[in-house]
Amino acid sequence: MRTVVVTGAASGMGAAVRQRMLADGCRVIGVDLRDADILADLSTAQGRAGAIDAVLSQSGGRIDQLVCCAGLGPHVDPATLVASVNYFGVVALLDGLFDALREGTQPCAVVVSSSSATLQSWEGSPLRDAYLANDEAGVLAMLAAAAQAEATREQAGYIAYASSKHAVTAAARQRAAAWGQAGVRLNVVAPGAVETPLLQAGLADPRYGDAIRDFLPPLRRRAQAEEVAALIAFLCGPQAAYMHGNVVFVDGGLDAAQRPLTF
Ligand SMILES: NC(=O)c1ccc[n+]([C@@H]2O[C@H](COP(=O)([O-])OP(=O)(O)OC[C@H]3O[C@@H](n4cnc5c(N)ncnc54)[C@H](O)[C@@H]3O)[C@@H](O)[C@H]2O)c1
Repeated sequence: MRTVVVTGAASGMGAAVRQRMLADGCRVIGVDLRDADILADLSTAQGRAGAIDAVLSQSGGRIDQLVCCAGLGPHVDPATLVASVNYFGVVALLDGLFDALREGTQPCAVVVSSSSATLQSWEGSPLRDAYLANDEAGVLAMLAAAAQAEATREQAGYIAYASSKHAVTAAARQRAAAWGQAGVRLNVVAPGAVETPLLQAGLADPRYGDAIRDFLPPLRRRAQAEEVAALIAFLCGPQAAYMHGNVVFVDGGLDAAQRPLTF
């Protein structure tokens, strides 16, 4: 029986992945703030270390799959919390559970990023460099400054969200060489708008609600969490054995509509 660790397993896409993996006969170890096998706050170094220890102890140090769904939306205050969960909470688990994955059978990990990772260029950005240097204090200081400055105050949540999703995508791709040589596949899923509590909270936010509402992709609807879970299950399965270091959009055509000449 495959052992699958799912972060953010209590809600939305993480809950859908958990259900899908259970239906496929896997053992699932869920990690979340609530309603999970392991209760942990991935926004803090202590919470991340506790989650890794608990996973290693519950799995006997051997896991087959890791699916990182836990995350926050751009509406969450403070914006710094968004970066702590969406980037540092993911990278800590990837690195902390890498050795346990190496012990697994046809092991792999999937990181849930977002199509908003590409909506803005972060090339050459000191914020991006601070993420990739794992400089959490530096990232939080820059985001706190953005939340204070008149020009960026309203957009601080979006800056934190989009930059964290861009950086976590880059962090996964940066690991592709070493992970591939170790026989552990690692891919990124980039959803567009998905019907989850996170999206509902964004729609209810006066700063971001209209933009999310207007953001319909060519397929003219939002995704269901189960549609993203189906892609993740595929990426974790034997039919995706040659997929590694890839970023897979599941966005109803949004990325193609926004960047038709870039791929
Ligand atoms: N819903 C969307 O439209 C959408 C689009 C693109 C990407 N995403 C991303 O998909 C992922 C899943 O989001 P969702 O829409 O299913 O949201 P959700 O709010 O339904 O689920 C997220 C889960 O993460 C958990 N979580 C949040 N902070 C945590 C912390 N500090 N420690 C541990 N767990 C924590 C929450 O408790 C929750 O159960 C997130 O990374 C999100 O950024 C969502």
